[in-house]
Amino acid sequence: MTAIVVFESMFGGTQAVAESVAAGIASCGLPTDVVEVGRVVGDGERAPWWPDDVLLLVVGGPTHRRGLSTGETRASAREHGEVVSALTGLDRWLASARAVRELPVAAFDTAWGTPDGGAASAVIAERLLALHGRLVAPPETFRVVGTAGGPSAGEVDRAWEWGRHLVSTVR
Ligand SMILES: Cc1cc2nc3c(=O)[nH]c(=O)nc-3n(C[C@H](O)[C@H](O)[C@H](O)COP(=O)(O)O)c2cc1C
Repeated sequence: MTAIVVFESMFGGTQAVAESVAAGIASCGLPTDVVEVGRVVGDGERAPWWPDDVLLLVVGGPTHRRGLSTGETRASAREHGEVVSALTGLDRWLASARAVRELPVAAFDTAWGTPDGGAASAVIAERLLALHGRLVAPPETFRVVGTAGGPSAGEVDRAWEWGRHLVSTVR
């Protein structure tokens, strides 16, 4: 059995969190792939892209304008410089993804963490539920420093622990 962590990231913060979540999962003995959303292969017809033996799918991206990034917010991010996810975003992938049929799923985002802010993870969780995923944990937000400053102190460690927690819900 394996786990897959799919992420979108502009400035590398969400990538760092995704890699730590994956390391936490893997530390429980579950082999884990970390996949940037632009590398998720499909034939455009809701093709399966993960192996049959996936036990857990985790999806995470940056919060943009209180939700998922859009073509417009990604263009705005590119004005800051080179970005990690230059090809596509989770919004486009989730809109075309095949139903996941009761697969255990979890969603996270990275954000400044403003108290009244919306979160991309809530939208990701909704989309995964619509694809018939089984949510194993509430959507989780990991805080970053400013727009491009990477995860806040302690958040990479918390992501590792969260990954371990996810495994405990599926075993
Ligand atoms: C266009 C844009 C809109 C953003 N909107 C929000 C927001 O509404 N709330 C928030 O907390 N952070 C917001 N942020 C900050 C991002 O969440 C932050 O840049 C991201 O978590 C960094 O992750 P990354 O390095 O993987 O891109 C925004 C960033 C950009 C570029």
